[in-house]
Amino acid sequence: MLKIAVLVSGGGTNLQAIIDGIKNRTIMNTEISVVISNNEGAFALERARSSRLEAVCISPKNYEDRESFNEALLKKIDEYNVDLIVLAGFLVKIPEKLVEKYEGRIINIHPSLIPSFCGVGYYGLKVHEAALARGVKVTGATVHFVDSGMDTGPILLQKAVCVEEGDTPQTLQRRVMEQAEWQLLPQAINMIASGKVFLGSKK
Ligand code: GRF
Repeated sequence: MLKIAVLVSGGGTNLQAIIDGIKNRTIMNTEISVVISNNEGAFALERARSSRLEAVCISPKNYEDRESFNEALLKKIDEYNVDLIVLAGFLVKIPEKLVEKYEGRIINIHPSLIPSFCGVGYYGLKVHEAALARGVKVTGATVHFVDSGMDTGPILLQKAVCVEEGDTPQTLQRRVMEQAEWQLLPQAINMIASGKVFLGSKK
């Protein structure tokens, strides 16, 4: 059984896709051990609770400094002894210690075809605004392993989505989610759970 922690900050539609994937068995052999949000108001926490999942908030606001927040986050994740950490719209820079300890065991979903529209400052609607401003005709989503850079780790899966005439950042974001993100993230987890992708050994 692949034990996962899902880290979230917002609406949690990607979390929902994982919950549904486990329920309908498109994701095999996987259990969500904990959902962690940095933001108490995240609707993702409600989604987790209504599916009777362990849901906790670790907010930087409740810690003296970044260092103590980072330590609390690492400690909380360690408590669950998970095999994989899934960043599903987690808007916090992953602490270096966490990346080191869980090397090769953290995946992220990014709403563009990396290396386009990624890196510092490209999150949420900004990614889609930039894609529209550049006038690309195709965008998409990427699932990648997390290393110490911003969106720089090895790519696991990508899916292209067409930009349509008259798109706004909002309509494009929705299409990328529906046609790419909600399929790719469950698919990536299933690949890992079924041993098609090798994870590094636990530290
Ligand atoms: C998604 O677009 C994801 O790619 C990005 O943040 C958004 C999260 O949406 N990293 P949700 O909270 O899963 O609905």
